[in-house]
Amino acid sequence: ATAYDFYGTHQAGITTPVQEHLHFAAFDMMARTDRDDLISLLQDWTYASARMSQGLEVSATGAVGGSPEAPPDDTGEAQGLAANGLTITFGFGPSLFDDRYGLAGARPTALERLPAFLGDDLDPAASDGDLCVQVCADDPQVAVHAIRNLSRIAFGRARIRWSQLGYGRTSRTTTGAATPRNLFGYKDGTANILADDTAALDENVWVAAGDEPAWMAGGSYLVARKIAMIIETWDRVRLSEQDRIVGRDKGRGAPLSGGDEFTEPDFSATDAAGAPRIDRTSHVHLAHPDNNGGIRILRRGYNFVDGNTDLGRLDAGLFFLSFQRSPEQFVTLQRALSTDAMREYIRHVGSGLWAVPPGASRGSYVGAGLFT
Ligand code: HEM
Repeated sequence: ATAYDFYGTHQAGITTPVQEHLHFAAFDMMARTDRDDLISLLQDWTYASARMSQGLEVSATGAVGGSPEAPPDDTGEAQGLAANGLTITFGFGPSLFDDRYGLAGARPTALERLPAFLGDDLDPAASDGDLCVQVCADDPQVAVHAIRNLSRIAFGRARIRWSQLGYGRTSRTTTGAATPRNLFGYKDGTANILADDTAALDENVWVAAGDEPAWMAGGSYLVARKIAMIIETWDRVRLSEQDRIVGRDKGRGAPLSGGDEFTEPDFSATDAAGAPRIDRTSHVHLAHPDNNGGIRILRRGYNFVDGNTDLGRLDAGLFFLSFQRSPEQFVTLQRALSTDAMREYIRHVGSGLWAVPPGASRGSYVGAGLFT
């Protein structure tokens, strides 16, 4: 069974091989909490997270080892389940940086609510939050157990603002892993930044020691976008048009300019009629680094199906998650995607941006650098 260390230079859950299940939660601090409450919350979350990452209960007494007269420390549903690759990744939202916590001066300049984008249809009830917790695991019960217990530990200090379950990772972050598919049926994550590409990670994902502010060095910025996919409409589109919209072929995931899945797209390739083989409004054309001044991001999203709508359609989509050295990378790409042919079939309904501090060192807690 796989277990990842919670402690380290970077938080786990970013370059970690993408697990099968996601439980993501955004938290708001409660009224009348102060700096000490926030620090103690991060310390308590660190302690429990380090244990759960090893497949242990949140405390030594756990679900059944404590007094029969008291509610158990651990809620118990993960008893007998191993760590299952559990990672817990914490982030700080722009709204956390205010006078309540003495953090008004500590906000990274780049950490602002994302700007409005063309076509946004955001639900405030699925957006933002003072804190975020991304939990990933290969077992859904292990993931839910982690969010449930972290939320219980937060009692009186923070509470869940919104949360999202996801399944079937839509990105690969390691060489050799087969590329999974999103709900449009396309391989997703082909051109991602991989865990062994240290140079690309340093350039595009990790905040460098020379970047501002100093406490973010080794951290990253996390963007979450809940993107509804209008799959019933998509499913009535002919295959060649679906391929044109994506810029890759559905079966193999190869760019329409030719080759196999991992052949670099050639945007200058034309067909017999002189038209570009990869359409200029295709998703891959618009999102590719060649057409965005070299910008790259690490994508780590999940599919979701939240039941169905009143119209008998699946309420489904992509819970897009990306890590980048600066939020500007996402903003540039999302703006470039304003002419994306895929836009007709998707709707951004939730959004958030968080500063993900570096990993905690053993004996310390996540985000400690912010308070020294
Ligand atoms: C590539 C699907 C939203 C950024 C791709 C690919 C697919 C895909 C099928 C090609 C395979 C691959 O390289 O992974 C989708 C779907 C979306 C969505 C279904 C929404 C429901 C976004 C958003 C962004 C984004 C919001 C960023 C703002 C990228 C990037 C690439 C990519 C950077 C790689 C381009 C390259 O280097 O070739 N996406 N995507 N995608 N997507 Fe998306």
